[in-house]
Amino acid sequence: MRAAVYDRYGPPEVVQLREIPKPTPQANEVLIEVRATTVGAGDWRGRTLDMPAGFGLMGRLFFGISRPRQPILGSELAGRVESVGKEVTRFKAGDEVFAFTGGRLGCHAEYKCFPQDEGVAQKPANLTWDEAAAMSSGGTTALHFLKKGNLRKGEKVLVNGASGGVGTAAVQLARHFGADVTGVCSAGNAELARSLGARRVIDYTQEDFTTNGETYDVIVDTAGTAPFSRSKDSLKEGGRLLLVLSGLADLLLVPWVSMTSSRKVIAGPATWCTEDLEFLAGLARAGEFRPVIDRRYPFGKIADAHRYVETGRKKGNVIITVGNDDVT
Ligand SMILES: NC(=O)c1ccc[n+]([C@@H]2O[C@H](COP(=O)([O-])OP(=O)(O)OC[C@H]3O[C@@H](n4cnc5c(N)ncnc54)[C@H](OP(=O)(O)O)[C@@H]3O)[C@@H](O)[C@H]2O)c1
Repeated sequence: MRAAVYDRYGPPEVVQLREIPKPTPQANEVLIEVRATTVGAGDWRGRTLDMPAGFGLMGRLFFGISRPRQPILGSELAGRVESVGKEVTRFKAGDEVFAFTGGRLGCHAEYKCFPQDEGVAQKPANLTWDEAAAMSSGGTTALHFLKKGNLRKGEKVLVNGASGGVGTAAVQLARHFGADVTGVCSAGNAELARSLGARRVIDYTQEDFTTNGETYDVIVDTAGTAPFSRSKDSLKEGGRLLLVLSGLADLLLVPWVSMTSSRKVIAGPATWCTEDLEFLAGLARAGEFRPVIDRRYPFGKIADAHRYVETGRKKGNVIITVGNDDVT
């Protein structure tokens, strides 16, 4: 089978399609024939080791000291179950599924094995392969932070970076939880943020939300431009700042903020479980959550997708089409 492999850190060209052996499912695993996958922020960080400030060493320890430990990037996919191990009861050959590996990666391949109860869920029939492939990364990250932030119905939420992979999910989920959502993005993406449920949109090139006098119960920062030092005056008493993207210094400040202020900062890596995927799938079936698709690239052009995603300006998710759905 073909897989996008990289064996050294560097520019997009280090990722190359290669023939590698097709995996065989273990007794408890399903083998998925991949139809679509995504290139996300975690993939270009894993390729370049360009980490948020202060996390350089941790990035190297995680991805591999001198060369990538996991040579295949990609954390999410959608596809059809081709075969199952003899102990598998939850899936059968032919099932349409979406799946998430989180930090274990390995989805940029034509086939991928998953344990039946770790990161696989039935694909909502009303989603395309592209949309199903993009369900997990932004969705579980936004869900993790909104849950940790204890978002309640009727609260005012601001999502900084509302048009990105995490931001488009956060706007939809916050609206689903009954919040009054303000999105921050560039003017060209204002309509997108509104269509996802933002009642108000701020163009960060024209207005600084941290100095306009508005206050929020919850601020979600996916862009890394709203650390506590900048956004504390925009948080109400008891407000929560959810730092999806933060430097090490912001992370180390978290206990200090809790001790000295009525406000709270939540930062660090998002966690997830298979129930989160089922929850997102349920929302998708009910028409409450739909991953946003920006560009699609054929598998053979995956390096171009890396180049685009690395700009930090994608709208929602960037898709790689694989197998039968591969476009040229
Ligand atoms: N903590 C975790 O576990 C976790 C999990 C997933 C991702 N992340 C991190 O979260 C970050 C966001 O990921 P993503 O997939 O959402 O990235 P993305 O899709 O590249 O989105 C970034 C968004 O930020 C917006 N933006 C850029 N500059 C901005 C500014 N000055 N003010 C406000 N918005 C701005 C862009 O919108 P415009 O184009 O409209 O400017 C873009 O839509 C990444 O750095 C990723 O590594 C962390």
